[in-house]
Amino acid sequence: MTDPRTSVITERLSGVSRIIAVSSGKGGVGKSMVASALALSLAKEGSRVGLFDLDFTGPSTHIILGVPANIQPKEDRGIVPPIFEGLEYMSLVYYVGDNPAPLRGTDISNALIELLSITQWGMLDFLVIDMPPGIGDAVLDLVRLVERIEFLIITTPSILAFEVVKKQVALLCELKMPIVGVVENMKLDKAKTVEVASLKLGLKYIGSIPYDPKVEEAIGNPKKLLDTAVGKSMTQIKKSAKNKK
Ligand SMILES: Nc1ncnc2c1ncn2[C@@H]1O[C@H](COP(=O)(O)OP(=O)(O)O)[C@@H](O)[C@H]1O
Ligand SMILES: [Mg+2]
Repeated sequence: MTDPRTSVITERLSGVSRIIAVSSGKGGVGKSMVASALALSLAKEGSRVGLFDLDFTGPSTHIILGVPANIQPKEDRGIVPPIFEGLEYMSLVYYVGDNPAPLRGTDISNALIELLSITQWGMLDFLVIDMPPGIGDAVLDLVRLVERIEFLIITTPSILAFEVVKKQVALLCELKMPIVGVVENMKLDKAKTVEVASLKLGLKYIGSIPYDPKVEEAIGNPKKLLDTAVGKSMTQIKKSAKNKK
């Protein structure tokens, strides 16, 4: 039976052309960094973009972008995301962070679903979702409830990261979820291990992002972020993201 909440969420997302979940089986691989840079970079070239931080394990895009505390969603027949740096911005941090948290104590999976059901996105070319790590229940809920969701998979060159990513990919394939491709972040050499392994799984290898120590100094400063190796690597990722499967 179809979950009745699916139709509510589908309606809420009806003005959004593409829904791209920046995802990884693994934590700490740069999902939030890539999601933030991708959203900023798409917006900068004129696309209408939303960024949705759904990482309940540690929402962090507000820190990466330096979203000031006085920028908050507004209530109007649901929740309207504020605009920041040209992005419609929404984060779970508004509900589970230090701020008044009406959903505190409720099941986290329900919190995610609730936020998806009440957020009023405008007409968007892209909604970039910063996903929680792993393939737990909450992620599976998102997969089930967000129709048209597509996955951009982030890994590091480490076999430890890629082995976990492989499990996630297997699950997504089993669920017949579209995968935009694989991005290898924090690359330090020219090894082809991840590229070869990605192609072997039948995935598009979008490219790599070099490790750049300047990323840390750019946290909280969107302009600086676009000037780091992460920002500069967005050209290829945007191209793949725009490529409709
Ligand atoms: N290309 C990169 N070069 C240097 N540091 C990076 C790069 N990408 C991410 N980082 C850093 O790595 C850490 C993890 O990134 P984050 O985006 O929070 O990962 P995730 O969202 O997957 O947990 C952060 O401290 C971030 O600043
Ligand atoms: Mg993160």
